[in-house]
Amino acid sequence: EETRSWKKLINIAVSGAAGMIANHLLFKIASGEVFGPNQPVALKLLGSERSIQALEANPSMNSLNSQNFLLFCISPRGPGMERADLLDINGQIYAEQGKALNAVASRNVKVIVVGNPCNTNALICLKNAPNIPAKNFHALTRLDENRAKCQLALKAGVFYDKVSNVTIWGNHSTTQVPDFLNARIDGLPVKEVVRDHKWLEEEFTEKVQKRGGALIQKWGRSSAASTSVSIVDAIRSLITPTPEGDWFSSGVYTDGNPYGITEGIVFSMPCRSKGDGDYELVKDVIFDDYLRKRIAKTEAELLAEKRCVAHLTGEGIAVCD
Ligand code: LMR
Repeated sequence: EETRSWKKLINIAVSGAAGMIANHLLFKIASGEVFGPNQPVALKLLGSERSIQALEANPSMNSLNSQNFLLFCISPRGPGMERADLLDINGQIYAEQGKALNAVASRNVKVIVVGNPCNTNALICLKNAPNIPAKNFHALTRLDENRAKCQLALKAGVFYDKVSNVTIWGNHSTTQVPDFLNARIDGLPVKEVVRDHKWLEEEFTEKVQKRGGALIQKWGRSSAASTSVSIVDAIRSLITPTPEGDWFSSGVYTDGNPYGITEGIVFSMPCRSKGDGDYELVKDVIFDDYLRKRIAKTEAELLAEKRCVAHLTGEGIAVCD
């Protein structure tokens, strides 16, 4: 007789539940792949009228009932659309979701915002949920970290898992900074393994920054499978202890950050977790002029986005550049 020790129920709410990303993600969560085989999960699926119809057409999802984890994925970007166009469409929704969270969610809820522009949407959401610690909100930049690791592994001719300590700094946008200064391949600094530093500064950086847009151009829609994989990675990074010496990237609130980044924005930075759902920022990272300059650019973009949603964060009148 198999004896299973079941753990305490984890409640998970997923918005955009009939969308392409959730279509991949929900089955991973329900299968035990994300939280483990002996971990009961309760899924609460949120969506529009259209999503309800789509979910009814899917009996296995329909039978699931069911908040410690909240995953937000909504209107994706289409061809020719800039991420800023989504601020209007999605920003209002995130303000509402933040208010709803503030009213009913556990103070311990962890929120992962996927819908773009995800950093600023996470900011809108947390500002509308003042009873929940700002630290509990994340914008998904794990997708970018995974893309950066993949490019470095291909260049060095090694398997993906040999690449570690990859930070994505800043916005989930074309100004993001994939950090090759602190990253390692097989334990060695990337710059010692990949001698072509021009490739790192130009081709590598641009490829990672523009990958989301390139996929939209190719497919006519944004990536869903790789996004769902990176959501799973992001959750796992919070619920399992981070391996010694390594870290992961997440878009988190900048208050109290040790890097001198302006406070009051959601910025991707290097994090470590004890596996308790919480994280701390990594202190021992190095900077050079190139990295500082690039970080300043993505920081400026996020500050501009913040000014443009001031009406949604309760910080005054919106001023868009
Ligand atoms: C991605 O990075 O693939 C998505 O965030 C899509 C987008 O709008 O860039």
